[in-house]
Amino acid sequence: MMSRYKSFVTIEKLTDHIGETVTLNGWVYDKTEKGKLAFIKLRDGSGIVQGVVFRPNVGDEVFGRAQELTQESSVSITGTVRAEQRAPGGVEVDVADIVIHQISRDYPITPKEHGVEFLMEHRHLWLRSTRQHAIMRVRATVIKAIRDFFDGNGFRLMDSPIFTPNACEGTSTLFETDYFDLGKAYLTQSGQLYAEASAMALGRVYTFGPTFRAEKSKTRRHLTEFWMVEPEMAYFDLNDDMDLAEDLVEYIVQTVLETNERELRALERDITKLEKVRRPFHRISYTEAVDWLRANNIKLNRKQADGTEIQIDFPWGEDFGAPQEEAIMTQFEKPCIIHRYPSEVKAFYMKRDPENPKTVLAMDMLAPEGAGEIIGGSQREDNHDALLERLRHENLPEDAFQWYLDLRKFGSVPHSGFGLGVERTVKWITGAEHIREVIPFPRMIYRIVP
Ligand code: 4AD
Ligand code: MG
Repeated sequence: MMSRYKSFVTIEKLTDHIGETVTLNGWVYDKTEKGKLAFIKLRDGSGIVQGVVFRPNVGDEVFGRAQELTQESSVSITGTVRAEQRAPGGVEVDVADIVIHQISRDYPITPKEHGVEFLMEHRHLWLRSTRQHAIMRVRATVIKAIRDFFDGNGFRLMDSPIFTPNACEGTSTLFETDYFDLGKAYLTQSGQLYAEASAMALGRVYTFGPTFRAEKSKTRRHLTEFWMVEPEMAYFDLNDDMDLAEDLVEYIVQTVLETNERELRALERDITKLEKVRRPFHRISYTEAVDWLRANNIKLNRKQADGTEIQIDFPWGEDFGAPQEEAIMTQFEKPCIIHRYPSEVKAFYMKRDPENPKTVLAMDMLAPEGAGEIIGGSQREDNHDALLERLRHENLPEDAFQWYLDLRKFGSVPHSGFGLGVERTVKWITGAEHIREVIPFPRMIYRIVP
């Protein structure tokens, strides 16, 4: 399809234009001078290329403009594209003309080391740095891969609302807001409950949007606003759900490997680790995981009434924290799904395991290399009375869940789904240290600006 909107040559496509004269529109990443030569590192959002300005070729006026350029000044540069083996992108530009749009003064982010707090305060500018640029491009690939995967496999996008009247994942982490005459509304923690209704209407659906958790967790893995994709499938049991989760994650990782070689190199990511992410992944039950922790003497720190801490054998029934998950994952190079957790540590909507009523048909996918949980999901309780009992057990407001109970009254079927956290996934794939680097403008307990 011919695009009718404005198009110009971009740096990432320059190898298609060797020998041609092109105009590049961008910003100065860096500039150095040496006698009659000036070297401009130009970035245009798609990549970086070096422009070589040779005074005898361009004349004094254009050379003067090159000398005037500062970091992050906006410019259009016209020149001839030349193959250059030693250049990172394989090309350089012999500059013929320079048009200055604006000279930037005292750009705060310089090539020297800055503290994270300083960079976070300048997130609106930090995004221009090579590393952040690379992470954002991988993020865009991950999101596109997710959409392509579902759109290409018979799923329909069904958006869930963001304002909700009740909790989905537990009441302790809700952001509350006033909602006209109707009292309180909450920002959604998950689109799942609505996705279940959607699945009963369209069969296989996914909801994809921002979700909110007022978690007090100040970790490298927690945001208060994050993006989650949640597929929900009628007539899928837990095994079908796990198969789908593996297919999706394999597809995402392989797509990034194909699409973002340059970015992964810029991030110094060990891609041999990602190449191993091929089905089948590992699968173990919660009970097997507990046995493994005990066999390997991985203890749990437990606070006593008097404030002192003791170490105990990991008790069956306790939820895993990051230390246990990391320990379990030391055995594996591929993601691992842990299934059939104790019902007490999981959400009210999960179906009891008919073979062991103390557990639910839940699954979490943990990624290797210390990345932790990237997926949480389950088969859903499809029996009306069992679900009602679970709602009551959790002290959830029955009337607010009437519509959800209806789904179990009118043509209830086995169904399953899961949620994949986009930022957790991008953090793992890029090898970023902290989740704040993998979303354009992170929202955390202690940060809402810029
Ligand atoms: O395990 P969670 O809480 O599952 C649900 O929300 C289900 N309702 C999903 C479903 O079955 N449709 O969250 C799912 C995923 C986690 O595995 C993690 O990747 C991500 O969402 N996540 C977070 N990411 C960043 N910051 C946080 N505070 C997150 N909390 C969860
Ligand atoms: Mg979870």
